Amino acid sequence: MAALTTSDKIAVIGAGTMGAGIAQVAANAGHAVILLDIADGAAQKGADGIRLGLGRLVEKGKKTQAEVDDLLLKITPTDRLSDIKGSRLIVEAIVENLAVKQRVIADIEAIADKDTIIASNTSSISISALAATASRPENIIGMHFFNPAAILKLVEVVSGLQTNLSVAQIVFDTAAAWGKKPVHAKSTPGFIVNRVARPFYAEALRSLTEQLASVETIDTLMRSCGGFKMGPLELTDLIGQDINSAVTESVYNAFYQDKRFMPSVLQAEMVAAGLLGRKSGQGFYRYPHEEKGALDDASLPVVKSKTVSVLGSFNGAIGLNNCLEEHGYQVSPSSSSDSGLDVARIEVGSATIKISDGRTATQRSAEDGIDNLVLLDYARDYHLTPDIALSCGVTSSDQAQQEASDFFRSLGKRIHWVKDTPGMQVLRTVCMLVNEAHDAVNQGVCSFDAVDTAMQAGVAYPAGPIAWGDSIGLSRVVMVLNNIQRAYGEERYRVSPLLLNRSYESSA
Ligand code: NAI
Repeated sequence: MAALTTSDKIAVIGAGTMGAGIAQVAANAGHAVILLDIADGAAQKGADGIRLGLGRLVEKGKKTQAEVDDLLLKITPTDRLSDIKGSRLIVEAIVENLAVKQRVIADIEAIADKDTIIASNTSSISISALAATASRPENIIGMHFFNPAAILKLVEVVSGLQTNLSVAQIVFDTAAAWGKKPVHAKSTPGFIVNRVARPFYAEALRSLTEQLASVETIDTLMRSCGGFKMGPLELTDLIGQDINSAVTESVYNAFYQDKRFMPSVLQAEMVAAGLLGRKSGQGFYRYPHEEKGALDDASLPVVKSKTVSVLGSFNGAIGLNNCLEEHGYQVSPSSSSDSGLDVARIEVGSATIKISDGRTATQRSAEDGIDNLVLLDYARDYHLTPDIALSCGVTSSDQAQQEASDFFRSLGKRIHWVKDTPGMQVLRTVCMLVNEAHDAVNQGVCSFDAVDTAMQAGVAYPAGPIAWGDSIGLSRVVMVLNNIQRAYGEERYRVSPLLLNRSYESSA
């Protein structure tokens, strides 16, 4: 099945934030585009917005004025529905309301050709529900662009229960021809990105609720150790606490209150207080945001630790062996990454430092009989990250804490002591993302490749969650989740059956 050709006319209904961006993308690919909006002057306003944005590209030398003029000529703003006649693909980007969208689809069907594809840019409404009242439900599909549509590459091509396979393929190929990264998805709550990304926000909100660390520390750890472009709490400020919590609540309710997607009481309180983030001037941060600068402990003297033994190998903890060796510590070789990480430890004076396995330091000290245990949170690359998070149990001595601090400072790290919490911050978030991605694949929402593409192209994750899980080791991810689940006694951390099976497969 091939993409639509540039001789095919496209219509976009709704000339707001998304509609204008989608019209620009289609015109940029060479199509004649009808941009329709019912509100007085809204279509022209949408077109003017596109002209303004493109003007900036001319100033930056990214487009010539001639290219921009040519592109703008392809877009016809209108408020007359009859102008969409003859369009091969019609993308609706109107208000997020099922009844209103169904009515518009019926209006479109009344004048469109029989084989016209009607795509919805909805981010949360079921495509099957949208198609339920259509006379040709096989031609109804989701074409979910991300904001800003002209820039972000991802397009989720969402099939409802009645969507024709060939329609999905035409839309997929067309999005690819428009320079996008399309992925196929089944119509299920949150599709791919808005479902798989839930733990990114949820675990940070939970950590904050449980006083694991400050807002700044949680965001710093997620950026620095997790490799994410933005911390989850600052990102909720950017999205808007109201929008972010509405998406969580919609996914949670659509899954019949599955505890895995449980909304945050703290976030609800923020919304109730009107602390919505950037748009209200205050959310988790105050705006305009004053950069506090990195929490700097560079002024503290570096005390070279005298008695340090590295026992075992930190294979599987990327960059940690390098970091230790670079600072003159001998690391014993080990063949198996998983068992290696469990036995590996650093003994510094009276402190024993181990990488978190999901248990709290207090629990692990008691269960494994380790005194003065200090836990290290996950980092994507321990060599590269300037920050690390440590926690210790209730029985750990102040001296052991000091010795662990001195040791990591001697490795050039900024240290963040966080409250002794199951799975710490970065580890539990990443494991939950890996789990949710597996569950989406398990339920046939999308393929392994699609979920990895979606999370990288749609929300700029540093790695796809499937590949990320493989690099951590799936049996380790399962162990961490099981340990967290045991600590909380909640089904929120239950392991996806697909992740469980793949963990056996990978360790066989
Ligand atoms: P918006 O409020 O900026 O624009 C909607 C436009 O649709 C308005 O100009 C309105 O006049 C027009 N409209 C409403 N009813 C209409 C009708 N019956 N016929 C023609 N035009 C009509 O909304 P936005 O943000 O562009 O969202 C549009 C859709 O895209 C929604 O379904 C939303 O969930 C979805 N979406 C939004 C994203 C975002 O970040 N804003 C991201 C991805 C999807």
